[in-house]
Amino acid sequence: MYCLGIEGTAHTVGVGIVDHEGNVLANEIDMYKPAEGGIHPREAANHHAETLVPMVRQAIERSGLRFKDIDVVCFSKGPGLGPCLRTVATGARALSLSLKVPIIGVNHCISHLEIGRIKTPAKDPVLLYASGGNTQVIAFANGRYRIFGETLDIGIGNMLDKLGREIGLGYYAGPKIEKAAAQGKKLLNIPYSVKGMDLAFSGILTAAVAHRNKGESIEDICYSVQETCFAMLTEVTERAMAHVEKDGVLLGGGVVQNKRLQGMVKEMAEARGAVMYVPDRTLCMDNGAMIAWTGLLMHRAGIRHPLNTTVVDQRFRTDQVEVTWR
Ligand code: FE2
Repeated sequence: MYCLGIEGTAHTVGVGIVDHEGNVLANEIDMYKPAEGGIHPREAANHHAETLVPMVRQAIERSGLRFKDIDVVCFSKGPGLGPCLRTVATGARALSLSLKVPIIGVNHCISHLEIGRIKTPAKDPVLLYASGGNTQVIAFANGRYRIFGETLDIGIGNMLDKLGREIGLGYYAGPKIEKAAAQGKKLLNIPYSVKGMDLAFSGILTAAVAHRNKGESIEDICYSVQETCFAMLTEVTERAMAHVEKDGVLLGGGVVQNKRLQGMVKEMAEARGAVMYVPDRTLCMDNGAMIAWTGLLMHRAGIRHPLNTTVVDQRFRTDQVEVTWR
């Protein structure tokens, strides 16, 4: 059985093909990069519309399959930016109709967890999902993937990107912030915003920009923001692991490429006799293979989505999905 998945919740469009054992036969990824400023949803959607068809062809070619070998088409139903979601959903519907195969709408956050479960030894982990638009701590409990902690305002990656722009590091600031933070020495006063099991990042951005206006160095600001925010993520993840009694933590999303974050989570996990798992970079970031694999699991469990139900959902919650495939 072969499943083709299309990802397009934000700046990344991806087309992946997997087989029934979870082998990734193709995983094409292309990213919309704004000339300046942040992601403009309509421009990102235009990018996806232009690149999607050649990428589908490229994925088929790379997989060594033919179009008639594809058994199911899947797409990222949400959460994400409306214009981007609608563009890739339209592409997925057209492909499903032309190939005369079923279509499945997949929850993007859940797919980060499912690809980690097949591509790492993690079998039942707590997922720390930290990306531009999403920041959630997720684990399986009582038939659903439940959110044990999440951001109350913006995703951590969104905050880092905004910080990068404000202090002159430019777009896609995460790696630049990580590099600058490695040179930082002074821990500045940044609010530690853990509220119960949830997190907030917009006040941290305000405080960091205020430090810059007072003349603090970019290195110390990046260092202080990283130390504070990653400690917040690690604390909430640890409490979720203790609560649901799981001995594995899986990382997902673009921000988890940061080595300092990985180091903190690993130290926490090892201190409690647990293990940290990090999928390969192209499976950790937004990609089509994770959508394809999750859709394949859903299809195999008997889930069917008639075409008229394949509407997108910008606010699609992780815990809305009844997980019948586990
Ligand atoms: Fe994501």
